[in-house]
Amino acid sequence: MIKLGVNIDHVATLRNARGEGYPDVVRAAHIAKQAGADNITVHLREDRRHIRDDDVWRLKEEVNIPINLEIALEEQMVDIALQLRPHSVCFVPEKRQEITTEGGLNTAIKTDYLKKTTADLKNRGIKVSYFIEPDIHIVKQCYALGGDCIEIHTGLYAQYCNQHKELEKNKILSAIHEAVKTAKDCHLDIHAGHGLNYANVADIAAIQDITCLNIGHFLISEALFIGLSEAITRMKKSMQTAHTINNHISV
Ligand code: PXP
Repeated sequence: MIKLGVNIDHVATLRNARGEGYPDVVRAAHIAKQAGADNITVHLREDRRHIRDDDVWRLKEEVNIPINLEIALEEQMVDIALQLRPHSVCFVPEKRQEITTEGGLNTAIKTDYLKKTTADLKNRGIKVSYFIEPDIHIVKQCYALGGDCIEIHTGLYAQYCNQHKELEKNKILSAIHEAVKTAKDCHLDIHAGHGLNYANVADIAAIQDITCLNIGHFLISEALFIGLSEAITRMKKSMQTAHTINNHISV
């Protein structure tokens, strides 16, 4: 069974638009859990534009579900992660001006710090993941860094799907397959996410060695029309169907 991590950053975006206490991220996490979410993902950005420090603490204390904390590779953020001790930490690149996480982590810079931080987090019982472009060289670098997991950035794939650019989409899908194969050979756990929706999730969910998809913006948007619970239920169904059909074909 492929897992679904529900990213609830944009519940906080909506809350912060008015500065009131609603919609509440903890309430969203409870509903997501009941609807079948396997984990809750939150990105604690350095500018705190959506999720804030007290959100991550409340989620940890009030919702019994694994938390995947996305952070930039910065000392202040790492210290928070070491104190919070979420189920997992995913290192993501962060630029102040970007609308969302653009591109994957550059694993070739700050390598010693990334290696040390990975070890520190793992020593605290936290699983470590890196959000990367689908590139076999980067996958090998992740293996060398000592982490447990890679999360493949599907943003470009999703963009090509939305623009109906079949050639480009197939090219990036092959790169994703290659990256997955390399990660499997390195015994890394493999996740994927960014830009996924009902229309484009099947090709990614069908990749057998991907164990979890992290999806946010589409689910929170869809929740406006059909409710969060129903949006998650439908997504899980689409994912499981694609995963299972492909599993039967490849057996
Ligand atoms: N995975 C990572 C590492 C992300 O940074 C994001 C976006 O915050 C997602 C998954 C989810 O992307 P989306 O909101 O486009 O579904």
